[in-house]
Amino acid sequence: MVPVITLDGPGGSGKGTVSRLVADAFGFHILDSGAIYRVLAYAALKNNVDFADENALCKLALSLNLSFRPAGEGVAAILDGEDISKEIRNETTGSNASRVAALPSVRTALLDRQRAFQQEPGLVGDGRDLGTVVFPDATLKIFLDASAEERARRRYLQQKENGNPQPLEEILAEIKIRDDRDRNRPVAPLKPADDAVVIDTTEMTIPEVVERILSLASDRGIGS
Ligand code: DC
Repeated sequence: MVPVITLDGPGGSGKGTVSRLVADAFGFHILDSGAIYRVLAYAALKNNVDFADENALCKLALSLNLSFRPAGEGVAAILDGEDISKEIRNETTGSNASRVAALPSVRTALLDRQRAFQQEPGLVGDGRDLGTVVFPDATLKIFLDASAEERARRRYLQQKENGNPQPLEEILAEIKIRDDRDRNRPVAPLKPADDAVVIDTTEMTIPEVVERILSLASDRGIGS
């Protein structure tokens, strides 16, 4: 079986950065499942698909001409040949992604697309339901958490670095709304899998989190 490490958790818990570093350590592939939901939300807006029209969103999810390719430190999202990585990274798209992601048939439509990432020599995937739904047999399941205040602070610093800062209180309010929607939806809600290791990163540095995961992975025979 091709090994899979899943990293689930709320926005701002450090999943993206940590999964990239863990994937690099093992030379594994990366799946940023949130980017798929973001691309879908972006494509829906572009094609005037109503966020309440589950059927149309489901069709769009099945027909997305989407690929990812390595770019700098991360991966670029390519939709119909166009690099839309920047366009999908704002909070409006994040919030729209959370809305389309609450629709059961949309989630089902995106399952095969996500599972196709499980390829030799291994995969590190991050999202909300990778350990609970997408890869229930994953070799190692991690749930990264952090207080909403700390996650808002991290996002604020990230945006400042990218030159488009937003007031901290505004970010915190958005984070709380999105958390609430992701945690309380009836299908594939954000929660740790029963066999996940929960790591609270509020007071941890990124290298500390990565070290912890690498050690857990090696306990499970990954990389040996
Ligand atoms: O991780 P992210 O912020 O890029 O994800 C954007 C939204 O997509 C998130 O608020 C909920 C949804 N999502 C999901 O429902 N399931 C996943 N596996 C990943 C993301």
